[in-house]
Amino acid sequence: MRPGRAADLPALIELWRSEVRAGHRDSLPREPEVEGLLAHFDWAARSRVEEGARGLDGGVLVTSRPTPGGTVARIDPAASGEEPARMMRDLVQWGLHLSRAAGAAAAQVWVGPGRGGALQDLGLELVRPWWRMDRSLAGDLPAPVPVNGYQLLDGSTVAKGSWAEMHNRSFADHWRFSPHTEEELMAGKAPQLCLIALTATSGEPAAVTLCQLETYVQDSRPQPVGLVSSVGTVPEHRRRGLASWLVAEGLIRLRTAGARHASLYVDGLNETRAFDAYRKLGFELAFVAEVWEATFP
Ligand SMILES: CC(C)(COP(=O)(O)OP(=O)(O)OC[C@H]1O[C@@H](n2cnc3c(N)ncnc32)[C@H](O)[C@@H]1OP(=O)(O)O)[C@@H](O)C(=O)NCCC(=O)NCCS
Repeated sequence: MRPGRAADLPALIELWRSEVRAGHRDSLPREPEVEGLLAHFDWAARSRVEEGARGLDGGVLVTSRPTPGGTVARIDPAASGEEPARMMRDLVQWGLHLSRAAGAAAAQVWVGPGRGGALQDLGLELVRPWWRMDRSLAGDLPAPVPVNGYQLLDGSTVAKGSWAEMHNRSFADHWRFSPHTEEELMAGKAPQLCLIALTATSGEPAAVTLCQLETYVQDSRPQPVGLVSSVGTVPEHRRRGLASWLVAEGLIRLRTAGARHASLYVDGLNETRAFDAYRKLGFELAFVAEVWEATFP
């Protein structure tokens, strides 16, 4: 195993693609987007790769994000070759050592369905099923149902600066929540696909939904895909139909923008049962990833 370097990225992308084809990894964005995401990644300190006879047999990247409960590291292993389970275990073990040494409060590993068996004796626990839910954008879409007493606006009229606060307030009680800055949340988002519901009288923000177009490679979905994210309603305005209204409106706008399919991600144990509302809007379970976690006291 040696430290990775930026020049390993094309070979790593090949490895990730083979995992997508085998159903072990959910999806992979286009190469320029992956490069953009990793533009400032510290390869020498935060990655390891294992070379095989025909390119890379394995690779692991470790990233981290701050949460109110401490830093949460994310270990992303990819393994092929003759002994993928052994390789995955070695890569994850390295990631765990790094995360602990760097002072993380917890480290997570997201793997495809049934791939976590190799991780059990590393002190990791299966904590969450993480769902991708999909619906087609062909044919009839659910009609957006406006909620009395609220108005729906988009990013072309709502001032920048209000989105992250709404997102952070809505998600404050979400599992492993980490606050986002306005720049992180809104990077690359088209204004007409960013939706917010305000109270009609005082203009107080009540709910948010952000949508964007994404193109995935070697993917069975019709492309481009409309990604629905940051679906959140602040607690005092919940269960009035706001999220359902915004998501239904988002689907129409995504189709107008060229999307042929819609996807969203949701915690399979979501305490506010967001998946029930998504099912009512025609979304169905498409991929279940496993989230394994180690906590460092
Ligand atoms: C999940 C979440 C976005 C739902 O927002 P919401 O505005 O309450 O959603 P809706 O009101 O459209 O739908 C929620 C439920 O209320 C019901 N509802 C809608 N109008 C209603 C009304 N007038 N009276 C009673 N119930 C109503 C809906 O049928 C739905 O029921 P279901 O859960 O059985 O499907 C919100 O709870 C939230 O922000 N949770 C924390 C963040 C989060 O987990 N987001 C999802 C990330 S994937």
